[in-house]
Amino acid sequence: MKHLALTIVASLGCLSPLQAQTLPVYLDESKPLEQRIDDALSRMTLDEKIAVIHAQSKFSSPGVKRLGFPDLWTDDGPHGVRPDVLWDEWEQAGQTNDSCVAFPALTCLAATWNPAMARLYGESLGEEALYRGKNVILGPGVNIYRTPLGGRNFEYMGEDPLLASRMVVPYVQGLQSKGVAACVKHYALNNDEEYRHQVNVKVSDRALHEIYLPAFRAAVQEGGAWAIMGAYNLYKDQHNCHNEVMLNKILKQDWGFDGVVISDWGGCHDTDEAVRNGLDLEFGTWTDGLTMGKTNAYDAYYLAAAYKQAIREGRYTTKELDDKVRRVLRLFYRTTMRRNKPVGFLCSESHYEAALKIAQDGIVLLKNATVPDGSPSGKRNLLPINPTETRSILVVGENAIKMMTVGGGSSSLKAQREILPLDGIKARFKSATIDYARGYVGDTVQSYNGVTVGRSLYETRSQAELTAEAVDKARRADVVVFIGGLNKSDYQDCEGHDRKSYDMPYAQNEVVEAILKVNPRLVFVNISGNGIALPWLSKVPAVVQAWFIGSEAGEAIASVLAGDVNPSGKLPFTWYASLDQCGAHATGSYPGTWRPDHRVIDEEYREDIFVGYRWTDRLKAKGKPLFPFGHGLSYTTFKLGRVTADKVSMGAADSLTFTIPVSNTGSVAGAETVQLYISEKQPKGERPVKELKAFRKVFLNPGETRLISLTIGKEALSHYDGATGRWTVSPGAFEALVGTSAADIAARCIFTFK
Ligand code: BGC
Repeated sequence: MKHLALTIVASLGCLSPLQAQTLPVYLDESKPLEQRIDDALSRMTLDEKIAVIHAQSKFSSPGVKRLGFPDLWTDDGPHGVRPDVLWDEWEQAGQTNDSCVAFPALTCLAATWNPAMARLYGESLGEEALYRGKNVILGPGVNIYRTPLGGRNFEYMGEDPLLASRMVVPYVQGLQSKGVAACVKHYALNNDEEYRHQVNVKVSDRALHEIYLPAFRAAVQEGGAWAIMGAYNLYKDQHNCHNEVMLNKILKQDWGFDGVVISDWGGCHDTDEAVRNGLDLEFGTWTDGLTMGKTNAYDAYYLAAAYKQAIREGRYTTKELDDKVRRVLRLFYRTTMRRNKPVGFLCSESHYEAALKIAQDGIVLLKNATVPDGSPSGKRNLLPINPTETRSILVVGENAIKMMTVGGGSSSLKAQREILPLDGIKARFKSATIDYARGYVGDTVQSYNGVTVGRSLYETRSQAELTAEAVDKARRADVVVFIGGLNKSDYQDCEGHDRKSYDMPYAQNEVVEAILKVNPRLVFVNISGNGIALPWLSKVPAVVQAWFIGSEAGEAIASVLAGDVNPSGKLPFTWYASLDQCGAHATGSYPGTWRPDHRVIDEEYREDIFVGYRWTDRLKAKGKPLFPFGHGLSYTTFKLGRVTADKVSMGAADSLTFTIPVSNTGSVAGAETVQLYISEKQPKGERPVKELKAFRKVFLNPGETRLISLTIGKEALSHYDGATGRWTVSPGAFEALVGTSAADIAARCIFTFK
């Protein structure tokens, strides 16, 4: 019997109808899925059931060999498929076939404001995962950007629930179209990294449902995610990996999630809670995330021997167990048992093209001012840099030569290639002399998680010498391109900790200021997943936000600098001038308050629903952010016309469509993202001034005008009523605000809800 099932599985394709009739139900594809699951479950022993609900190695859990269910392999996620580690250790396995394409980090994807890019991302990643034999990708991450210090914001999709929702759905669908499960993470309220295992988040039901849950809900209900990862932190004093409210009530009961809840690695802490409160598959216990280890601890998992013993002693029936196993079996049928799935492929040219396209679509031109030059008008915008006219470019900054696909924690990759910014610029600006000055020393680590960084970052010179070199070379350059920012080292956009300060780290500010004194033609290209204080902003004519963009970083950056690609990314978060413009900091609620026993730190989200632009909109008087949510410039100009609605009044069952003409009024082709915000005119209770409810990115040739339509339903007007636990909307007047950022509203239109 042991080998029979395997043989049956292998030869299913050539069965005659008669033979097919003899198939056990669980293998018979003509039978409904749930019937097959019931049949498989009825054949499993207690040992087999216990085995499939916890890990057997760092990243795999067992199937049911006797019945022909293969092992399940998971892997990080979310920006590429992580290299293999040893069976029971975090050390790299040293495989030679696990180099991957590194896709841009998810902040960049969100900055494309382009759901088609998210679909492409998911599909491409799915193909890489398939080739590597991975069934579950541990991603995407959709925790809301609540503070710019958040160590993992680069892995997430920004501050706005609607934007993150619209981007996560196609990612999940694209990935799963390849038969690879998405494991959406970290559910929920893992909005900062500091003390992530001890933080108990206190948040109103309203903020939970309006801000922190929508993207997860969309991933589950619209994207059909097959798995979700519980977060490390606590909510209502219970860890999120076994949280009664979060998992049983909201996820499974209210949203009807039929997939598998996977614990974050080391996020499970208690057998009883894990049994009762919705955890289905335990991973990483005794590993404390990425550091501490206990060899072969798998039998000691909370859902292993202890659970089995409790069932044997009658402390539990198999009710909860059977529910968990059913879910795991469903995941098997969706992934490992799925027939006719493609083979997948790794590092194909089409994956590199996808990575490049997404990067180019997500790079944000934050500022582009005029500088004196030799042109007839005497002045023109510093960017793009003309590749034929420019004689010399000085590239400054460690980030021009530092690999960014390594570092940052579990999303670190072994990229087959990573084009560094300096190399990308050299390749694109062939007729110019390209000089380089490091400018400052940030992170000199030579290898991370078993991957050696391409170039040596060893440095013996003093800061004074580095500054002097940069200034000296800058004096002689036509243009200076400073490539700086953060770098995914500890405390600089990295898992496990938040940034300690909002300031630009290392000596970067000092070097920028010194260069400006001798050459004002400076472009600052910022590499990060977070906003950073830019004290010299008024003096630097051009600033580009280039994220952590993966394998094709150098080419993507150079193509934007040269104007081959007209930038069209838009910020997925508000870029504050200083931390006190951010609600989490202005209310003093970050990082929280330790309880007297120092075991739990309570973090109360006092800014409530007023996250990001919802906060700065209210506090206009306290100064403007450096760049608003949704901001991003172009090398062309756009004009939005008058907005019209298809009705003046809408009812609960109606939808309302707004139409607005958008024209490219400049001289190069480019894309603009039209953003629709809704504002309630006289709300009875508190409401944000406005909230994003729809958007569309449109590509236009010079002189072209297109009519853009954006449709909303009643849910776009609703707010969550914490008292009743329902979404509700009151009759009254609303306003549609259409613009190109949260602060650039070009057209308005009043309508009523009756
Ligand atoms: C991270 C997860 C990751 C897991 C496995 C954890 O420390 O929080 O995001 O998927 O490790 O590497």
